[in-house]
Amino acid sequence: MARSRSEGDWWRTAVIYQVYPRSFADSNGDGIGDLPGITARLDALVELGIDAVWLSPFFTSPQRDGGYDVADYTDVDPLFGTLADFDVLRDRAHALGLKVIIDLVPNHSSSAHPWFQAALAAAPGSAERGHYLFRDGRGEHGELPPNNWQSVFGGSAWTRVDEADGKPGPAERGDRARPAEAAGTAGAAAPQKAQWYLHLFDSSQPDFDWTNDEVKELFRGVLRFWLERGVDGFRVDVAHGLVKKPGLPDYTPPADGGSAGGAEPDVPYWAQPGVHEIYRDWHRVLAEFGPDRILIGEAWVEPLSKLAEWVRPDEMQQTFNFAYLETPWEAAALKKVVDDSLAAFGGVGAPSTWVLSNHDMIRHTTRLGLATPPPQGEGIGPRSEAHPDDAVGLRRARAATAFMLALPGSAYLYQGEELGLPEVIDLPDGARQDPTFLRTGGESYGRDGSRVPLPWEAAKPSAGFGPPRSDGSGASWLPQPEAWASYARDVQFGVPGSTLEFYREALAARRLHRLASNELVWLPPVDAQPDDPQTLVFRSGAITVIANTGPNTVELPAGRVVLASGPLGTGTLPGDTTAWIEA
Ligand code: GLC
Ligand code: CA
Repeated sequence: MARSRSEGDWWRTAVIYQVYPRSFADSNGDGIGDLPGITARLDALVELGIDAVWLSPFFTSPQRDGGYDVADYTDVDPLFGTLADFDVLRDRAHALGLKVIIDLVPNHSSSAHPWFQAALAAAPGSAERGHYLFRDGRGEHGELPPNNWQSVFGGSAWTRVDEADGKPGPAERGDRARPAEAAGTAGAAAPQKAQWYLHLFDSSQPDFDWTNDEVKELFRGVLRFWLERGVDGFRVDVAHGLVKKPGLPDYTPPADGGSAGGAEPDVPYWAQPGVHEIYRDWHRVLAEFGPDRILIGEAWVEPLSKLAEWVRPDEMQQTFNFAYLETPWEAAALKKVVDDSLAAFGGVGAPSTWVLSNHDMIRHTTRLGLATPPPQGEGIGPRSEAHPDDAVGLRRARAATAFMLALPGSAYLYQGEELGLPEVIDLPDGARQDPTFLRTGGESYGRDGSRVPLPWEAAKPSAGFGPPRSDGSGASWLPQPEAWASYARDVQFGVPGSTLEFYREALAARRLHRLASNELVWLPPVDAQPDDPQTLVFRSGAITVIANTGPNTVELPAGRVVLASGPLGTGTLPGDTTAWIEA
């Protein structure tokens, strides 16, 4: 039964806060965040003023990609706790009025998943191998990869498993079961070629074959398991990647293509039309559980008019707006992406979403301080050419957040942005864990700099991230920089002008003035020289929002200041500052 969408849908206006469990709060002193740690800190999120939490993966996993390599979709990794701990978290969140979104990773499993282990142990052509994308290699003995696809994390997207005689290949020899003897199984007398499996990400993340009915049934079961357990929705990882073009044709991306593949047309592994049938199917599964459960797509698809196909009325409810995230802090570009977003999503009856930071991006506090940010996934580190200006970055980040939180629709926050945390640039090489760093031999720093454990209490070991470790070191899985304690929540809470208080004021005023559900009406810019306007001005109900993206001070319209992202002059708005005025 198709469900109707009403204005009352909670997700249309929600502020959804992303928790990266490894780095949020550690309850047991092993230096890694966990579910009881999150539960213990939920009150702080209520005090912040958000509506929902999205938890990045906490499922059973060898943690080769921070848990985006799932070995059991219906259990909690012991690193993070137990299913009982999840139930406590869910109950506490719901009692506090917070929705709980979890992460679903359907494009690939971990290579430790029992299905992949069974596939390795089975013969080429077997039903077990059919769950994944095993193919014969090219060349006489299959010694070359089946096609030229590259992993998002660097290197070939294929790993070889079989020798040409059907025995385990170099990647798996020794620690894996031998495949069944090929004779008789494959039915052909001809010598077999070596087989390879596809992994668009790390070699520990084999891609499922989404034309396989058992794969479809597996994920229906996973959805139902968590829906029965009371989750309010799913953020769907790599929601543009599940279906591959038949025949898996070669593809060479443009030299300047971002790793996630957003703007490239006709990529045989991104945004294939077949994905939509999967989301229609899942939409029906969610509808069995009432009208309030949602699907959120992590789909790197451009243009926005195409991305809107993911949120047609019988598919997902929301999708991330990476076009918005990637827009520089420039008036004309921002106006265009806002208009394009409202038109594209509005055209299919979906809310626009807005986001500035997540666990895959350089934190916007740092990114907006860079003249030319590196492509997604590359990250920055000590040897990077890009050197951010911290003060400019934080000032722009707060101005950008004030602009974003005034826009109609749903907004995403990433843990720590409410503290003004910058990207950590000087992590030692030896501490880095992102497979991007490892697979490119350190050429790309990757995403660890946005994942450093949060500072809660300045005076405590690990800045209150967790209890002291038994060795007294207070060390966390990624080391916190010296200055981390100065960003701690307890030194910002209740302190006027702090970034935390700025976020709390913004979220409270957004709610009070219903900015998320009002209509946005652009007003003329207020620049002194209007030929190249640096200001963006719009009206939302009783509130006028002015963002000054340029360096020059401009005049502030008359009225009561409801929110300012930084200090104001007398009747004036300095550069890189946003204000909300009630007239
Ligand atoms: C998504 C996740 C990212 C992960 C990748 C592979 O892009 O956000 O963290 O590495 O998918 O699962
Ligand atoms: Ca822990």
